[in-house]
Amino acid sequence: MATTVQNIIKKYNKDKTRLMDILIDVQSDQGYISKESISKIAGELDISHVDVEQTMSFYHFFSDKPTGKYAIYLNDSAVSNMMGRQKVKETLEKEAGISFGQVTRDGMIGLFDTSCIGMNDQEPAALINGHVFNNLTPFRVKEIIRDIKDGKPVEQMYTSAYGDGENRNELVKTVVQNNIQKKGPILSEDYIPGIVIWKKLPQMTPEQVIEEIKKSNMRGRGGAGFPTGLKWEFCRKAKGEKKYIFCNADEGEPGTFKDRVILTERPKLLFEGMVIAAYAVGADEGIVYVRHEYKYLKNYLENLLQGARERNLLGKNIGGIEGFNFDIRIQFGAGAYVCGEESALIESAEGKRGEPRDRPPFPVEKGYLDMPTVVNNVETLCSAVKVILNGGEWYSNFGTKDSSGTKLLSISGDCKYPGVYEVEWGFSVKDMLEMVGADEENIQAVQVGGPSGSLIGPDEFDRILCFADLATGGSLIIIGNHRDLLTDIVLNFMEFFIEESCGSCSTCRNIPYLMKLKLEKILDARGVPQDLKDLEEWGKILKFSRCGLGQTAGNPILTSLRNFRHLYDEKIQKDKVFDSGFDMSQAVKASCEAAGRVPNLN
Ligand SMILES: Cc1cc2nc3c(=O)[nH]c(=O)nc-3n(C[C@H](O)[C@H](O)[C@H](O)COP(=O)(O)O)c2cc1C
Ligand code: SF4
Repeated sequence: MATTVQNIIKKYNKDKTRLMDILIDVQSDQGYISKESISKIAGELDISHVDVEQTMSFYHFFSDKPTGKYAIYLNDSAVSNMMGRQKVKETLEKEAGISFGQVTRDGMIGLFDTSCIGMNDQEPAALINGHVFNNLTPFRVKEIIRDIKDGKPVEQMYTSAYGDGENRNELVKTVVQNNIQKKGPILSEDYIPGIVIWKKLPQMTPEQVIEEIKKSNMRGRGGAGFPTGLKWEFCRKAKGEKKYIFCNADEGEPGTFKDRVILTERPKLLFEGMVIAAYAVGADEGIVYVRHEYKYLKNYLENLLQGARERNLLGKNIGGIEGFNFDIRIQFGAGAYVCGEESALIESAEGKRGEPRDRPPFPVEKGYLDMPTVVNNVETLCSAVKVILNGGEWYSNFGTKDSSGTKLLSISGDCKYPGVYEVEWGFSVKDMLEMVGADEENIQAVQVGGPSGSLIGPDEFDRILCFADLATGGSLIIIGNHRDLLTDIVLNFMEFFIEESCGSCSTCRNIPYLMKLKLEKILDARGVPQDLKDLEEWGKILKFSRCGLGQTAGNPILTSLRNFRHLYDEKIQKDKVFDSGFDMSQAVKASCEAAGRVPNLN
């Protein structure tokens, strides 16, 4: 064991900024990270035990205890629940003979919950030792557990054909489906890899590249919508010995999966976008930060990077441009939604806990290793290739005045055709419902932009997807009339934020939890009118949190209170001024259970 850990550390040249990679490899090789491994890593990297432990304890997929020869992580997103997760969970527990959070006595099977794994269009889905198993049913679970008991390697446990497109590639071989339902300039097949690098960049100065991006009015696709040309210009002008380009492929917002599809089907477009950004700002290193859940793409992506080096699309004097040197490496995360926030992402890539930094300074001034860094979403970088290829003006003809170009939407929930759709900005929610085969009559709500976005009802289905109206990173969850909106959706989203807070700010650490308790009190028919006012007031305090996670963590409740007030009103005791919500018999029962006593309530 010690030799393996030693070899892993050696592979990363004893570089402490590569701590994430070291921990990922140790976890994957040994199923957990033992005290002995921690000591070895700390000693070899010349850092303290605490430094190793604090990074390790931050991420969902690192464990200091064995997670089982077959570690099963079942996604507990709202859509997974809508599609039958509960039955899958019960069958897993029954067949394995353990509860979630436990490992079987023989160390074979571990069962764990996990947040959305980016498969909302093929739920319920789980990861088993990093391999995706989608569209799970109780029947399928029984087959899986039987295979595990027979000792089958995970790769041989698939019973259906591999997924579509490159999911069948020799280096991927997964059952994941891309479900591309509508193509536009980004997803179209007419792209010739390297065309911009060979034909356009040599004719342009870095400043001209930035000008062209500015002319396109392109705004970032990661959610905040910052103008891309301006971001690149800031970074170009910032002082630093080195500059970095980061691609944000963390994609942790529940309901989003379009970046997974780009990584699978258009990775060369993405890498070319990073090369263009590097040329524009003067960077010589790039990092694609990919969420742990997409680790099944590792060999495939790394092989493509190697191919790009061989074709001089990466490396030295790229595209024949003297002195233009740039290379890309892939950094995997280890399960933390907050790492999608750009400064947390940088911290994580430096081998630390993914805690967002105070800003300013922004990454364009002081980012990775304190050097100027551009962080862009996968889709933004892909769009940049099309802008430089066809011109900023061409691009600005798509979409609306303030939101140019196209947008990839990840659509899931109660509709006939879930999947990825590339549409022009300016698309209405109503048109979207028609496009995906959802009967408007049967739809009570659409969650726009994931849990941090808005829950809207039919009276707002005329609204338009664009930065001036309904801005979105691209996650759209369709919720039918038969769902219990507050329990199935709002409560699930609140639990997500509580689980994913990094805990640095007292607001984000406490208020979502208190809001969830209040929601549960209301669902329990113990709420009073004051509870609704409290929820609104507490939501305002959340805005003082350091990063977007805390600032938006109240949104599931706040937007449902605004747009579905009647659901709350129906449940509260209108004529009562106060109800503590405290239930003596429940409290005694819970404490007796914890202490192993028999409750006596007489
Ligand atoms: C909690 C949180 C999670 C985020 N997750 C992502 C993500 O998964 N992908 C992404 O591109 N941006 C994410 N962002 C936004 C990034 O901080 C950043 O704005 C974005 O990567 C910039 O790229 P763009 O300019 O191309 O949009 C997240 C922000 C927050 C606050
Ligand atoms: S708002 Fe939440 S996630 Fe963001 S820094 Fe504060 S505690 Fe961490």
